[in-house]
Amino acid sequence: MTIQEKIKELVDKLNQANYEYYVKDNPTLTDNEFDSLLNELIKLEEQYPEYILSYSPTQKVGGEVVDSFDKVVHKTPMFSLSNVFNEEEVRNFDAKVRKIVPNPTYVCELKIDGLAVSLEYVNGILYRAATRGDGTTGENITHNVKTIKSLPLKLKSSIDLEVRGEIYMSKKTLAKLNEERIKNNEEPLQNARNAAAGSIRQLDSKIAESRNLDIFLYHVPNTNLKTHYETIELLRDNNFPTNPNITICNNVDEVMQYIENWTKKRDSLPYDIDGIVIKVNNLNDQKLLGYTAKYPKWATAYKFPATEVYTKLENIVCTVGRTGLITPNAVLSPIKIAGSTVKRATLHNAQYIKDKDLRIGDIVSVRKAGDVIPEVVEPILSRRTEKLAPYQMITICPICHTKLVPSPTNIDLYCPNNSCEARNINSLIHFVSRNAMNIDGLGDKIIEDFYNLKIVTNIVDIYYLKDHKEDLIELEGYGEKSVNKLLDNIEESKHNSLERLLFGLGINGIGAKNAKILAKRYKDIDNLSNATIEELQDIKDIGKVLAENIVNYFSLEKNINIINKLKELNINTKYISEDTKVNELITNKKFVITGTISFMTRDEIKKIIEKYDGECVESVSKKTDVVILGENPGSKYEKAQKLNITIWDENTLKNILEDLNEI
Ligand code: IVH
Repeated sequence: MTIQEKIKELVDKLNQANYEYYVKDNPTLTDNEFDSLLNELIKLEEQYPEYILSYSPTQKVGGEVVDSFDKVVHKTPMFSLSNVFNEEEVRNFDAKVRKIVPNPTYVCELKIDGLAVSLEYVNGILYRAATRGDGTTGENITHNVKTIKSLPLKLKSSIDLEVRGEIYMSKKTLAKLNEERIKNNEEPLQNARNAAAGSIRQLDSKIAESRNLDIFLYHVPNTNLKTHYETIELLRDNNFPTNPNITICNNVDEVMQYIENWTKKRDSLPYDIDGIVIKVNNLNDQKLLGYTAKYPKWATAYKFPATEVYTKLENIVCTVGRTGLITPNAVLSPIKIAGSTVKRATLHNAQYIKDKDLRIGDIVSVRKAGDVIPEVVEPILSRRTEKLAPYQMITICPICHTKLVPSPTNIDLYCPNNSCEARNINSLIHFVSRNAMNIDGLGDKIIEDFYNLKIVTNIVDIYYLKDHKEDLIELEGYGEKSVNKLLDNIEESKHNSLERLLFGLGINGIGAKNAKILAKRYKDIDNLSNATIEELQDIKDIGKVLAENIVNYFSLEKNINIINKLKELNINTKYISEDTKVNELITNKKFVITGTISFMTRDEIKKIIEKYDGECVESVSKKTDVVILGENPGSKYEKAQKLNITIWDENTLKNILEDLNEI
């Protein structure tokens, strides 16, 4: 047996033992046996590093450190689930399904409280793992996911497979971790989900490794199988950890039984669940049911009823949104509900406070709606022993002290001052947010800092931040790396499609969905700015008020000035159809090809690169992003090495093009 074969044999043996230990819970080797095989492997790998296999168990111990999280565009979007909260809503879901699919079979699963992940296996080997992100684009977390002990780095068969599941932290691990943290005078982590998410968002995989994360796989997005249950079996056949409590239910009554059973038993599980996922089993039926913009119509999540707790309403403070809308917020004595500590909850408007007769000083009951958003339910009148004054809604803006004005419906109050600082800051926060320009690295606090320092007082200033690079690096909490990354993200946002800009501008009433409808219809911001109220009103989903808001917005000179400035700064104001291919590895990058590529001609490669809006140039310079390296390369290869330019060899190129379905 050659050394290479020996290494492979040890790797396979140890991987099988890991599977039996961590997934099957049925160890086949003693600890000593395992350790001695592992030591043998470690020694051989040290001696022959060229034979280290990417799926070797030694690759699970962490140690890989990344500079930042690369973006990953999901091949198929990662949808989230609609929610139902009671039996009636479960039965409504079933009735809706039955309108399209008369006799559905369901699969019920526990809804694991962790974070969703998408894994790509190429030739049976784990190639990449990514978070859900916004559903379309997530972050590359392969280095951390590799440390999950129960996850196979290599599958039994050499298949290409994309699988999805939930990374979670067991209750035991969280308790241990928190014990440690308290000992070290650190804040304990609030719940298993935050703990898992926090561990995954680490650059150094040693931390993820030490956190003992686990995973259940529950979804295969592209498959020829007939039912969802068969995909679970496929996952099991390939040694993936799947939840053992996945059950076929033949009708809605059986679904309700499953829900009732697990509502009673949830505390006995070694991990947290926040509900039950109900999925239509037949994949053809799933196709017939299809998707809304956000959710599959073939599945839903039943959320366990919220637990209610009592705490003191210490104060009510009002905040000012970007439109000037005033929102009263409850300031609560910190209280733990459903795994996290709650200190604040929205009270919506004055009428809401009046209807519930909430008074500062009351003991109130608080719950988490859908186990996520905290909500003040009511004051506990039996505990109102002192005389408390009814709440008086504010009449002037808490920030700029302008007299507030009521909305036409008289329910809400607004600060009418266009230069109110709170409004400006929140408009900036909105502009950079995920569904708007999506500029990562400009969090709420940073925007506030930049605003107070007068570095960014309006959206145009964001694009001049690069002129303040030296000042930014000097600021506390910023370094050269984070500033560079931020400036890159700002530059990247210039290529966004029109709908992001439209949403980001904050035109009253334009949400992300309407922004998309308008961008698709008008293609260019100039066309939209010339649209009439009548024309706009003709569009489905755009009513009279919205049409008026749009026309008003574009009739104001100050808004037109902003748009003109953005154009001067080369911010895209056109709709980019989703058919235009975009890929983060190719789009806007400069390529040089050297040597002969065996599986394609240069012209073919060039065409694909151009299709994704990349550019092929002849000579290597500092501006070159990638050099593609074929057989018998010329001096361009040496130059690329000197300049430290990314090099793709044939295999890398092949993998990327295969990923893009170009070969
Ligand atoms: S299926 C297209 N199954 O719940 C369907 N999701 O609220 C994809 N989750 O984003 C999701 N356990 O992170 C599915 N057994 C399960 C789940 C599950 C937990 C999470 C998942 C998803 C979220 C939706």
